[in-house]
Amino acid sequence: MAIDYSTSEGSKYALIDADRLWHRHVEMARYGATPRGGVNRLALTQVDIDAHVVLAEWAGERGFSVFVDDTGNMFMRREGSDPEAAPVTSGSHCDTQPTGGRFDGIFGVLAALEALVSIEEAGLVTRRPLEVAVWNNEEGVRFTPSYMGSAIYAGSVALDSMLAATDSDGITMGSAVLALKAALPNAAHRPLGSPIAAFIEAHIEQGPELEVAGETIGIVTGMQGTRKFSIEIAGDEAHAGTTPRRHRRDAFVEAVAIVNALHELFHDADDTVRFTIGQFEVFPGALAVVPGRVSFSIDFRHPEQETLERLGNEVEPLCQRVVERCTVSVSEPSRAKPLRFTGLVPEIIERAVGRRGYPYRHIYSGAGHDARHMAGICPSGMIFVPCEKGISHNEAENASPEDLAAGAQIIADVMVDLANRD
Ligand code: HGY
Ligand code: MN
Ligand code: MN
Repeated sequence: MAIDYSTSEGSKYALIDADRLWHRHVEMARYGATPRGGVNRLALTQVDIDAHVVLAEWAGERGFSVFVDDTGNMFMRREGSDPEAAPVTSGSHCDTQPTGGRFDGIFGVLAALEALVSIEEAGLVTRRPLEVAVWNNEEGVRFTPSYMGSAIYAGSVALDSMLAATDSDGITMGSAVLALKAALPNAAHRPLGSPIAAFIEAHIEQGPELEVAGETIGIVTGMQGTRKFSIEIAGDEAHAGTTPRRHRRDAFVEAVAIVNALHELFHDADDTVRFTIGQFEVFPGALAVVPGRVSFSIDFRHPEQETLERLGNEVEPLCQRVVERCTVSVSEPSRAKPLRFTGLVPEIIERAVGRRGYPYRHIYSGAGHDARHMAGICPSGMIFVPCEKGISHNEAENASPEDLAAGAQIIADVMVDLANRD
């Protein structure tokens, strides 16, 4: 169903093809499809590599060149009239959570690709090249930490330590990147940290605000900060039948005491703190063995740096206070400060949304995105489109073709504006 997005600006902008955009989402959802209608496409697993190959084929059909860097980020490029100029880039991630949905991440990639294809079809010439970025391992499920590809690209973390990261089978990120490169033999090498003139990311909101308000576009004003911890409690495995309580060093019992104390620490009356224990593993996990080791994760988020520091700095002392016979170790694999999107890109986004006449609001992001790291190296911004009931990181995640098309139209318009300004 072609949706008419024409405006008085006429041919200065390209009109995206809503049907093509929707059908590409349907096609991408096949890679890692789960029986319950979601997607399980962990970073650089075979299904993720297969999805990258399809994206590269779609780019190649339009004469766009494809690049891969040493951290597994993929770029698809439409040349501009000034080949020396740094590109205007849009994109997001292709990897998902294990019970992920059909839109988180991939919408930003497909919206950017649709922008380039419709600009190509319209025969528009842009001064700057236009690029689609597919950032590797945004979700950080298979390899820790998350946002790995964009963080390394932006110089926020070192490449070697990331390439040495291993998944639960002991496979390194470095070898997974080599597998991606082998699957894309025609992709050229992209040096890490190559300049980008400006970056914009489209994403589903992953919250209910836009849908409840009946608005189509969220202009993202900023993103809350995060602190992620890994906690390990060590005791002694022992026989469940012969070991009396007084002789036990039960890692599970002491982990539960720590978790209860942490929930008290992070409980705030106004429900602004986001505190999540998403991973919790008991070793050896055998019925008749007193657990000798427990490890669990903490995902802590808040919009204020002072709170992130105050509460986050309490984690280690609290664990050491509560533990009794066992020992506890606390590590913090990643943290990120709250950030604001201001200046050029949000301004151009707001003008583009006004031209198209879409109902919109300014909205703060509770979720993390690759644009966080891009904001550290170039003018950046984000737009959201609604998702059904705000559901995400869930196989029931859903969005409408119309909202996805409106988001892609804004990406196309903003990329043209950014690429043709001085
Ligand atoms: O965790 C996040 O906020 C993102 O969806 N990876
Ligand atoms: Mn996500
Ligand atoms: Mn995402």
